[in-house]
Amino acid sequence: MSRIAYINGRYVPKSHAQVAVEDRGYLFSDGVYDVLPVHGGKLAFAERYLDRLDRSLGELRIEKPMSRAALLHVMNEVIRRNHLRNCSVYVQVTRGVAPRDHKFPKGVKPSLLVMARTWKAPPPDLLAKGAAVITVPDQRWARRDIKCISLVANVLAKQAAAEQGALEAWLIDNDGMVTEGSSTSAWIATPKGELVTRPNGTEILPGITRSVVLDVVRDLGLTLQLRPFSREEAYAAREAFLTSTSSFVLPITRIDGKPVGEGKPGPIAARLREAYVKAAHHA
Ligand code: PDD
Repeated sequence: MSRIAYINGRYVPKSHAQVAVEDRGYLFSDGVYDVLPVHGGKLAFAERYLDRLDRSLGELRIEKPMSRAALLHVMNEVIRRNHLRNCSVYVQVTRGVAPRDHKFPKGVKPSLLVMARTWKAPPPDLLAKGAAVITVPDQRWARRDIKCISLVANVLAKQAAAEQGALEAWLIDNDGMVTEGSSTSAWIATPKGELVTRPNGTEILPGITRSVVLDVVRDLGLTLQLRPFSREEAYAAREAFLTSTSSFVLPITRIDGKPVGEGKPGPIAARLREAYVKAAHHA
C-alpha cells in the first residue's frame, strides 16, 4: 500500500491528506477521475488516459487544474515517492470548494488529488478458471461516457455481484442489451468466433484498455463487430471476457450461473491478454 498522496499542491502522508467538507466532490459528486496503469515503473498509454480526463473535464466544464506536463510530473513523483513499479495511479479533479449551492461557484480553483496503489492481486486461480459475472439492470445516468466520480449505481451493481459470488456485474439497458461492466468493458466472441463489443457513445465509458485491445484485434486481423449484444447472445457466446486498467483482459466463464462455451477460458481472450500485456510494457 502506498503512503504518499498529492493533494492541492502538497505531497502528504495519505493518513494526513484531508479535503474540505465543502469540496463539491464531497457534496455533489461534482468531479471526474481517471485511473492510469503503471508497468515497470512507467505510466502506460498516458496520452490516451489524459485525453479522456481532459474530455471528462470539458464535458462538465471544470477547469484543468494544471498543464498536462505538470500533471505527468506529479503522477511520476507520486509513483517515485511511494517506490512503486507495477501499480495504478488515481487522479481526481473536482470543481473546488465553495458554500453549498448547485450552480457553478465563481472564482474557485479545482481540487486535485493524485494517489497510487499496487495492483490488487487477483485470486490465484482466477486466470486459470475465469471469472463469473451476473447481469443487473443498468441504473446509471445518461452520460456514462464521462468518467464522473458519482459511482453509486456502479457500487450497487458490484455489491450485488459480490453477494452472488461473482466478480463483476454486466449492466443491461432497457432493450435487453449489455452496456458494460460496473467497472470494466464487456466483450464476447460469437459461436463463429467474431469479436463483439459495444461502440463508444454516451451509454458506456470509452475504456482505454478496450481501445488498446481494439488496436490489437485489428493488428491481428481478427473479425470485429462494434455493436451492442444482448444478454441471450452472451449466454450463447463461444467466449466472453472483460477489459480494464487493473484486470487487463480477463476471461469470463460463467454468466448468471450458466457456463460460457465449454465453461473454460478460451484461446481468443488468452491471445488478447498476452498481446495487451506486451503492448503495455512497450507503451
Ligand atoms: N474503471 N467501464 C467502466 C464503467 C469503468 O469504470 C471502467 C474503468 C472501464 C474500463 O476502462 P479502462 O480500460 O479505461 O480502465 C469500463 C476504473 C479502472 C475504476 O473505476 O476503477
